[in-house]
Amino acid sequence: MGEAKNLDNTSGSSKKVLLVKYFIPALLVLWCARIWHFYSNPFSLLFSNSTVGVSEIQTDPNYCNPIGLIGDSPCEFETINVVNQDISSELHRLVQTPFFRYYKLNLHKQCPFWPNNYLCNREDCSVEVMDEAEVPEELKKKLGAIDFSPAGLGLQPFKKCEFTEKDFCVLEDESSQDGVYVNLIRNPERFTGYTGAPAHKIWQAIYEENCFAPIRLISDGNDHISPMTNALVDSTKEEDETCLEKRVFYRLMSGLHASISVHICDEYFNQTTGQWGSNFECFHERVGKHADRIENIYFNYAILLRALNKMSIYLQRYDFCSGNPGEDASIKEILNRILKLSKSSPPTFDEKALFSDSASMILKEEFKDHFRNVTRIMDCVGCEKCRLWGKIQTTGLGTALKVLFSYDDYKFGARGNPNILQRSEIVALINTFNRFAESISSIQRFRKMYFEKKDEIYHL
Ligand SMILES: *[C@@H]1O[C@H](CO)[C@@H](O)[C@H](O)[C@H]1NC(C)=O
Ligand SMILES: *[C@@H]1O[C@H](CO)[C@@H](O)[C@H](O)[C@H]1NC(C)=O
Ligand SMILES: *[C@@H]1O[C@H](CO)[C@@H](O)[C@H](O)[C@H]1NC(C)=O
Repeated sequence: MGEAKNLDNTSGSSKKVLLVKYFIPALLVLWCARIWHFYSNPFSLLFSNSTVGVSEIQTDPNYCNPIGLIGDSPCEFETINVVNQDISSELHRLVQTPFFRYYKLNLHKQCPFWPNNYLCNREDCSVEVMDEAEVPEELKKKLGAIDFSPAGLGLQPFKKCEFTEKDFCVLEDESSQDGVYVNLIRNPERFTGYTGAPAHKIWQAIYEENCFAPIRLISDGNDHISPMTNALVDSTKEEDETCLEKRVFYRLMSGLHASISVHICDEYFNQTTGQWGSNFECFHERVGKHADRIENIYFNYAILLRALNKMSIYLQRYDFCSGNPGEDASIKEILNRILKLSKSSPPTFDEKALFSDSASMILKEEFKDHFRNVTRIMDCVGCEKCRLWGKIQTTGLGTALKVLFSYDDYKFGARGNPNILQRSEIVALINTFNRFAESISSIQRFRKMYFEKKDEIYHL
């Protein structure tokens, strides 16, 4: 024992010697080198005349490549990227099928909040409406007739009122004479030239009058406005759990806004060349340089994926009858692949963490009121095509919220009521998910472009 102690002591003191003799000086050298590096850099910048040096400093290796947990979600960005690699192509296939490409809606509802005197007359703004004769009869039957017969499930016929207490949206009355059929494939969401004051007014109404805490907007001198970055998210960070719901609401709106911007910038019309193509600068200004907006796009994706997961048995049992057995079978096949992929991912959202105590029931009603109001604001969008996609995507998100917050899990199980959702809600949900999937893919393409263009980016 004694010997061992002695040995220990010697090695201890020799460690000390090593530390003083080599390690500390080495640290000092490194430290000085760091300081020198820090001070020398501005000089090297001053004297160096190469743009490469400048852009190297400007180029962010993590541009549009967030990692780690998505805020207010148990899911990591990387998970979404992996899932999306496979799911996006399947979703793309699914939205081409007749069941998912025909949507009936009223494009000319009165804006309930202000006189809608601005109308976009550009050709790009208009929606090509279908001749009803082109729509498969089976789908038309499905479009109009909603069967509420399994009584006692607390569902009210929505034909008289615009929504039930379970809804987060003001829904389309599918039986209405004012509705038109639209082929979504022939009316892609893309650049329309609808910007400036009218578009500003829509987002202003959403952020300033319909988010829980008013979000102040800033104009960035370009043609568009943006919410003060992270206004709500930052101001509530220190507060307690009850603010989670409000943050979620803000994230949903911000993510939707950002995702729509990605679509517009990805399919931009270049007026000089008369060609459609992606516009990096548009993307960078509106989305790319705002990490919180990218995050909120992922957040919306996480919510949609979770909703899809929750209703997976419901969708597997759903009757997608479109009158063409071949097509119906292929819908089932694609959908099953999507549901399998969505199940393979770890949980992406924990809906049970929201509205969890009885005190938050009032908050839940407020949340619904606000969300329904946002779906009403979509009737005030001056550009027809933007209105179409605004309505679809708010309905899609509203449907996801309805699935997550209005029903217990078993309602979507094997014994659930197949009429919980209207066809239009399912179509909106899948199309919305597809739009977000495309946004995630676009962000990755724009990220590549960023490195290809890094010299130009310095000047942005
Ligand atoms: C810096 O580069 C510009 C053009 O790239 C050139 O006109 C200028 O003379 C250069 N200045 C120095 C100090 O090398
Ligand atoms: C609905 O939105 C409009 C327009 O922003 C606003 O004036 C109104 O106060 C909102 N109503 C509710 C109930 O949130
Ligand atoms: C339009 O195309 C021209 C020629 O390719 C290009 O120089 C210009 O930057 C493009 N504009 C936009 C807004 O992308």
